[in-house]
Amino acid sequence: MIRHFLADDDLSPAEQAAVLDLAARMKTDRFAYRPLDGPRSVAVLFDKHSLRTRISFDVGIAELGGHPLVVDAQATHFGRGETLADAGRVLSRYVAAIVLRTHGDDRIAEVAQGATVPVVNALTDGYHPCQLLADLLTVRERCGGTAGRTLAYVGDAANNMAHSYLLAGATAGMHVRVAGPADFQPDPDVVARAEKIASATGGSVRALVDPVEAVRGADVVATDTWTSMGQEGDGRDRITPFLPYQVNEALLAHAAPTAIVLHCLPAHRGEEITDEALDGPCSAVFDQAENRLHAQKALLTFLLEASIPDPAASPA
Ligand code: CP
Ligand code: NVA
Repeated sequence: MIRHFLADDDLSPAEQAAVLDLAARMKTDRFAYRPLDGPRSVAVLFDKHSLRTRISFDVGIAELGGHPLVVDAQATHFGRGETLADAGRVLSRYVAAIVLRTHGDDRIAEVAQGATVPVVNALTDGYHPCQLLADLLTVRERCGGTAGRTLAYVGDAANNMAHSYLLAGATAGMHVRVAGPADFQPDPDVVARAEKIASATGGSVRALVDPVEAVRGADVVATDTWTSMGQEGDGRDRITPFLPYQVNEALLAHAAPTAIVLHCLPAHRGEEITDEALDGPCSAVFDQAENRLHAQKALLTFLLEASIPDPAASPA
């Protein structure tokens, strides 16, 4: 069965833990793992801008012994005329996996519907699941584990990062609190999915308005831009309602004394996070950025292995 990674809850808790274990081993022995030797090619397509995702996939696929094909989707026929399912079907004839950053989740779902190789979400409007694998690897490193730790995400609680924190954090057995203005709350369907996962992992999820309530005693304080890609012209005030949610020293004073700060980057210094918080002793942000590389290498390895047909299951 082809395994895709379209949203954080496409990995079970055991699978997520296995990917993070492998990522840690790959980080320790960076050039020892070459499952794409051959080389096998991976297409990495972008409908939106990127620095970290683009470079970390390019480098990571090369380090796995593979051949990365990093493409600006706008320069192709992708989604222009032919259906996205047909594009997924064609790309599957060339490459071992398809990594895609795009707009609506319906777009990546359509690619996956046509694809016969794993499809990986490199950020959509709804989720940023590769980022969360890097974040959880960072939490493991800095906090000694994920289960039972409290993670507070403050800012735009309706965006892709908020949704991924809810789902991936619950999968990792964390207590996840997301806080944002009343008009910027998470999708109730995502909250319901995260609650169901948390009930099995011993974690919990809460969607809040009060940033101090979210951050109180937290082991991890995370934030993200107040204006995600594609929202620049949506006519909503994306500054004033968010001011109480800025990650700064006053807000961090409510967190656990050992709390770490996460931000997926790019950061808008002076908006969602201050220089002091981003550059201070609590910040794990640049380890978090590095961990994209290790986490994605592990994810690709896992998906390709998990997608190999089981001969025992084939008809005679
Ligand atoms: N965090 C992240 O996805 O960064 P890029 O947009 O630069 O890829
Ligand atoms: N929420 C942000 C994340 C950027 C990595 C965006 O979608 O633009």
